[in-house]
Amino acid sequence: MLKSTFVTLALSLLVVDSVAADQSWQSSLWKGSYGGYPYYSKTCVVPHKDGQDDSPEIVKVFQQCNKNAQIVFKEGVDYNMWSPMSWVNLSGVTISLNGNLHLPNNITAVQQKVATNPNPPSNYAIPWIYIQGSNVYLKGSSSKKGGAFHGYGQQWWDIGNRTLRPQLATFNVTKGWISKIKVIKPVAWGFNIPGVNITITDHFVDAAPGNSTRDSTISFPFNTDGFNMAGQNIVLDGYYGHNGDDCVSVVNGARNILAKNGYCGFSSHGLSIGSLGRNGANHTVKNVLFKDWTMEGAVYGARFKSWTGGRGLAENVTWQNIKVVNVSTPIFVTQNYYDQDKGPRPNNTEGTSTHLNNILFDNFSGTIGPNPTDGTCISNPCWNYVQGADGTQAIIFDLFNNTALNLQATRVKTKPIKGSYSDTTVICDPSTLAPGEQNTLGFQCQRGPFVTTPITA
Ligand SMILES: *[C@@H]1O[C@H](CO)[C@@H](O)[C@H](O)[C@H]1NC(C)=O
Ligand SMILES: *[C@@H]1O[C@H](CO)[C@@H](O)[C@H](O)[C@H]1NC(C)=O
Ligand SMILES: *[C@@H]1O[C@H](CO)[C@@H](O)[C@H](O)[C@H]1NC(C)=O
Ligand SMILES: *[C@@H]1O[C@H](CO)[C@@H](O)[C@H](O)[C@H]1NC(C)=O
Ligand SMILES: *[C@@H]1O[C@H](CO)[C@@H](O)[C@H](O)[C@H]1NC(C)=O
Ligand SMILES: *[C@@H]1O[C@H](CO)[C@@H](O)[C@H](O)[C@H]1NC(C)=O
Ligand SMILES: *[C@@H]1O[C@H](CO)[C@@H](O)[C@H](O)[C@H]1NC(C)=O
Ligand SMILES: *[C@@H]1O[C@H](CO)[C@@H](O)[C@H](O)[C@H]1NC(C)=O
Ligand SMILES: *[C@@H]1O[C@H](CO)[C@@H](O)[C@H](O)[C@H]1NC(C)=O
Ligand SMILES: *[C@@H]1O[C@H](CO)[C@@H](O)[C@H](O)[C@H]1NC(C)=O
Ligand SMILES: *[C@@H]1O[C@H](CO)[C@@H](O)[C@H](O)[C@H]1NC(C)=O
Ligand SMILES: *[C@@H]1O[C@H](CO)[C@@H](O)[C@H](O)[C@H]1NC(C)=O
Repeated sequence: MLKSTFVTLALSLLVVDSVAADQSWQSSLWKGSYGGYPYYSKTCVVPHKDGQDDSPEIVKVFQQCNKNAQIVFKEGVDYNMWSPMSWVNLSGVTISLNGNLHLPNNITAVQQKVATNPNPPSNYAIPWIYIQGSNVYLKGSSSKKGGAFHGYGQQWWDIGNRTLRPQLATFNVTKGWISKIKVIKPVAWGFNIPGVNITITDHFVDAAPGNSTRDSTISFPFNTDGFNMAGQNIVLDGYYGHNGDDCVSVVNGARNILAKNGYCGFSSHGLSIGSLGRNGANHTVKNVLFKDWTMEGAVYGARFKSWTGGRGLAENVTWQNIKVVNVSTPIFVTQNYYDQDKGPRPNNTEGTSTHLNNILFDNFSGTIGPNPTDGTCISNPCWNYVQGADGTQAIIFDLFNNTALNLQATRVKTKPIKGSYSDTTVICDPSTLAPGEQNTLGFQCQRGPFVTTPITA
């Protein structure tokens, strides 16, 4: 009953909205605001004492100066944020991070604090810093020596400890700005953005291990996402980073996300939607544009991931002008994800999936890397194993029958790094395509060569 309703709905959508290239929704995307920073009438300077935890004093300043104020972390000063902090009830606050903030350089000390951290959790972990309010500007520094959060993650990666890790920060703000922030060797996840009307510019992430390569399981920087975005009206303009997970991951609840002008290196897991629909959850993401990115050595360029048995919808998502350099799989979609390292595929007894509608991959160019995975592969089968994936696939689509509509790949020109364009292949099961979908896809859905096809619908 439920399923036939979906199919009817699916078919009617197919008729009404059959041309994926209609990306008119993009004109309604939040474009970001570059002026109108918060007004402040006083300035409060954060004190520092060598060899002591500065967190209590920092929190005090945030309580005393939470309205129409500028809070200054002094240039040249390395602050010890040895305890998790909440900077809340802020209204019209500019946080000038001219100096730097440091987590404890001691794994056990961080774990003990995380175990009792009262901050509201993100999707993945509890943030070390929780920022909440309206009209808040987290302002980094143009100087190389300031505006940084230091996580001392290298020692965590070296011993492979993934217990009680913090997310670096949650920026849960209505009308906010983040600019020129540097994230240096985070333990794991970087910034979580659940807010509304957020503009982020010139972000820098260094989550590459100092002594290892993308293909090595030793010292791999697991879960070092640059951004987790769950909010609405968010612009990210300017990103440069090396990490071992998504540069940007757009998750449940996100609407109107524009992420542009970025570089992702080391072993990024891409520009991602999801994961969505875990444990049957009804998750939605709408109106997302990733534009003008270079992905180097990444596992994925563009990625969509929803769990077996998920529910909900991802609608109006575009990846455009993506340069891939030695990227394992430039374009990857799965509606059937499960933890392959934790046992067999769970039974999808209800026959549900997180639906896809109006998804465009446009103007991808560059080279495909030879290794379909990276140092995160520490199990057999590998968490991201795909039968037949061999470093020649430009596109892998693992779709759920009849629930992916208006998928389109245009101007995709990628080749294996040691091969030629005619060696490029795809993995796609035509029996999963919705009726008529081959006519809008732009390439032949098959397990075989990459062959472009005319878009006739
Ligand atoms: C998705 O885009 C279509 C047209 O391109 C538009 O009609 C529709 O409203 C958009 N969906 C959302 C949720 O904005
Ligand atoms: C923030 O505001 C809430 C409600 O307005 C209040 O309960 C809470 O104590 C405030 N927190 C701080 C740290 O000022
Ligand atoms: C690290 O922190 C733990 C727990 O606070 C402490 O017992 C230990 O002495 C610290 N180690 C160093 C080298 O400071
Ligand atoms: C963000 O703040 C809102 C209230 O303003 C709260 O409901 C929500 O849980 C917060 N989100 C996160 C991820 O902290
Ligand atoms: C580098 O990797 C090794 C493990 O092979 C580790 O023992 C060592 O501490 C690492 N870190 C640095 C900074 O050299
Ligand atoms: C990670 O840290 C936890 C808590 O301190 C500890 O029990 C565990 O043995 C550590 N694991 C590794 C692999 O170091
Ligand atoms: C976000 O910005 C839009 C456009 O400026 C505005 O209409 C809307 O009210 C803002 N939302 C909030 C929650 O402030
Ligand atoms: C998911 O939730 C939306 C409302 O948020 C609802 O319209 C839709 O029917 C739900 N889908 C499923 C499969 O439960
Ligand atoms: C295609 O993408 C590349 C970046 O990879 C960009 O330089 C080029 O201008 C784009 N082409 C068009 C027609 O937009
Ligand atoms: C491409 O990636 C592979 C596997 O990660 C690596 O061995 C190789 O050196 C890379 N090639 C270039 C040219 O960077
Ligand atoms: C799925 O269902 C089949 C047949 O009902 C059963 O044999 C199998 O154990 C189930 N698998 C899981 C992971 O529950
Ligand atoms: C999709 O449905 C068709 C029948 O319409 C069936 O033959 C095929 O096996 C299904 N594919 C998958 C992957 O479930």
